[in-house]
Amino acid sequence: MASKKMASKALPATRHVVSINDLSDKDIETIFDTAQAYLKQLPDKHFSYRIGRSTDVGSNHILASLFYEPSTRTRLSFESAMIRLGGQIITSADPATSSAAKGESLADTVRVIANYADIIVIRHPRDGAARLAAEYSPIPVINGGDGSHEHPTQTLCDLFTLKQKNKRLKNLKVAISGDLRGSRTIHSFVYALARFGATIMPMPAKGMELPAHVDQRLREEFRCHMVSVPKGEGDNTSIDALYVTPEEPHQQTLFSGPEIDRDAGHDLEMLDKKVDALYVTRFQKERWAEKDQAYPRIDRKFLNEPKYSDASVMHPLPRVGELDVAFDSDKRAVYFEQAAYGVPIRMALISLLLGLKGKSLHRFAGGFEQDEQHLYVQPRHIGLHCSNSNCIVHDPMEVQYVRNKFHVVGSGEKTRLRCVYCEREIEHFVVASKKNKWYAADIPPLRRSTDHGLKDIILFANETDARAAGFHSRRAAADPPAARRAGGRAK
Ligand code: NCD
Repeated sequence: MASKKMASKALPATRHVVSINDLSDKDIETIFDTAQAYLKQLPDKHFSYRIGRSTDVGSNHILASLFYEPSTRTRLSFESAMIRLGGQIITSADPATSSAAKGESLADTVRVIANYADIIVIRHPRDGAARLAAEYSPIPVINGGDGSHEHPTQTLCDLFTLKQKNKRLKNLKVAISGDLRGSRTIHSFVYALARFGATIMPMPAKGMELPAHVDQRLREEFRCHMVSVPKGEGDNTSIDALYVTPEEPHQQTLFSGPEIDRDAGHDLEMLDKKVDALYVTRFQKERWAEKDQAYPRIDRKFLNEPKYSDASVMHPLPRVGELDVAFDSDKRAVYFEQAAYGVPIRMALISLLLGLKGKSLHRFAGGFEQDEQHLYVQPRHIGLHCSNSNCIVHDPMEVQYVRNKFHVVGSGEKTRLRCVYCEREIEHFVVASKKNKWYAADIPPLRRSTDHGLKDIILFANETDARAAGFHSRRAAADPPAARRAGGRAK
């Protein structure tokens, strides 16, 4: 019967790529093998890094590109990739001409587009927007950049470039320069570098250091440690600190390469080692109130320093003056090749997420193995909110569709709340018991609570908010005679 035919079947599990950490090391290796196979099977006559022909492995499939922010490389290379696979594309690239201009939420838009396409790539100015889209989407969602949060497919292009140039990914020394706070490419990139045991040299523009939550995560989750480097006299390129990562990789590293024995002398050895790559970024002026900033400019003179003699110079592009065009003819300049890899890498990712069948395709399973994370979902009209004002949870168009949700990470004194969407962290908060109506500023062991236990609590930003919501201090409740006799309320 017609109605029976229309009934939906159970949907297979859908994989989304919102963060680089949604991909395991093995997944990344599979993507690279597939991209490599496409480069070999569909070569360009003149350039080894370009795809020159098309296949039909993706025929009957449609990619929707949903872009709420400007893009050249990401959107066009995704679209080129889908066309090279033999698929089709539909595009919404201008929020002013889409239903967003009428006030439609992302949650609704995604559920509609899922009926028109097989896979979605989204770019959005709000941190965490791609995770929200993924929550509402029955088809794979790929994050093409969300605010200053992450840009995982750019990182895949970056890592692939590093692998092509260095023949390995393990134990590289990579300097990162510019707006480390505002650049989403940097945030995905440093997590990936840390996972592959790189030594990271941050060279931020003034006031544009890595955000605190990224720094903390590098140290605590990716087991990086900091080594301070004294500034040399008259040395305009020296840095304050290096991240050295991790002494024992917490995950099996699948890329082969020379092993470095990480003994006590390792840090010193890394300090002396030449830089394998310098990654330059532009000032993300759209993410800063202050538009005129002093900003480092990388040119031949800068790159004449001996430590950069073998360094690949990378840039996610666009560049707007921070990387001298006179350097383009230098053999260390790899940024246009890096941009070219956008096509084979995105062909590989689309193929694997869609489960396309082709000679070169591998099975795509796994996911980054993370410690078990406990999820806390905030009741709607009470308690704390994500502290990042640019997080998607604060978007007036989305508030009806999204709840403040946090992973409880760290342990003991260092227990923190990590927003599920933008991954910013809250360190100070107050825990209250719904049942007993008390709150405690000295945080009980949330991490050991079960998810069920988390359902019995409400989190507040501070004691004042907890009291305003009618909760009283557990300390006072535990010290009853005096408090009760006085009929006093808890402080
Ligand atoms: C980057 C982005 O949009 O985050 N561009 C890109 O996708 N290659 C970098 C940038 O805009 O600076």
